[in-house]
Amino acid sequence: MAQVSKPGLLRKHHLCLRSYDYPSLFNFSNSKAGIAYWMRSLTNFADSFQFILIMAKYLKTDFDFNSKDLVELMDDVPIWSAPFGLKLLDHIRYSQNLHVLDIGFGTGFPLIELAMRLGKTSKILGVDPWDAAVDRAEKKIEYYGISNVEIIRGVAEEIPLGDQSIDLITSNNGLNNVADLDKSLQECARVIKKGGQFIQTLNLNTTMMELYEVMEKVLFELKLDQSVKLMHEHIAEKRKPLDACIALIEKKGFSVENILHDRFEYKFTDATAMFNHYFIRLAFLDGWKSSIPEDRQTEVFNMIERNMNEMADREGVCKLSVPFVLIDCKKL
Ligand SMILES: C[S@@+](CC[C@H](N)C(=O)[O-])C[C@H]1O[C@@H](n2cnc3c(N)ncnc32)[C@H](O)[C@@H]1O
Repeated sequence: MAQVSKPGLLRKHHLCLRSYDYPSLFNFSNSKAGIAYWMRSLTNFADSFQFILIMAKYLKTDFDFNSKDLVELMDDVPIWSAPFGLKLLDHIRYSQNLHVLDIGFGTGFPLIELAMRLGKTSKILGVDPWDAAVDRAEKKIEYYGISNVEIIRGVAEEIPLGDQSIDLITSNNGLNNVADLDKSLQECARVIKKGGQFIQTLNLNTTMMELYEVMEKVLFELKLDQSVKLMHEHIAEKRKPLDACIALIEKKGFSVENILHDRFEYKFTDATAMFNHYFIRLAFLDGWKSSIPEDRQTEVFNMIERNMNEMADREGVCKLSVPFVLIDCKKL
């Protein structure tokens, strides 16, 4: 990989030209040391020149602002993912020559952002089983001409990589979506090198409490006690308590270096707007419906919507709180 060593060579070349350590032409040009020195300098100069040419490739960028592909591809990191992802991108230990694994990258986040931020000396692998999303990520990778990404269509429970082959594992709301967390963490512990960074974000089990409190009240009112139980089971299954997550991570041989708490509020004019938002319908509605018998769902959701709209009238906004954490670990 010619490009990999270029920054080093450029620095070395500059060092060679410091006034106190390069031999004078007159003193050394006839000695073996002098000839070797100037040959080396010439090679370094040629390398540096080539490096400048390689670096300057980006100057040839010619994006077409009227291209449908471009505007389509620019526009698809879900805004839901952004608050988590920005924290994650802030806390990665940036370095050259990293082998990175991103778990559950969906349509390409943070996989592609990492590839661009870490640069060509690093290689970013991504694992995700969602074919349609992976197709989309591949289209972006190709369109932007990114060469340091490799995609694995598979699951975190079975990562087809060698033991201790990865320096950095990232997951933005990915690991909290896997079918078997214990097995996935076991695989993370196997593929990461000793001292490697394992960093993930996930939302906590008090996510969207405003909605669940109203839902519980409505379900009790309608004497759907079994649905209340199912609702709590659904929350527990989707979002494990933080202590349980930490214990599981530590059991796999990681030390937890930093736990960073943050939150955002998903705000809407009212519950009607909230229930009709595409991302709510895509990512949450099925889960909410799953604890309620099908023939009661319309009645239940009408009541929840009415209750939450009254709250929005009183408070001036309908908001769903999303507390989340970043867990930054090191492999022991
Ligand atoms: C909430 S999305 C997060 C996507 C992306 N990281 C983001 O921030 O927008 C969860 C992702 O985890 C993926 N996923 C689900 N089960 C998985 C598994 N067993 N192994 C790896 N990824 C999985 C899903 O396909 C989905 O792309």
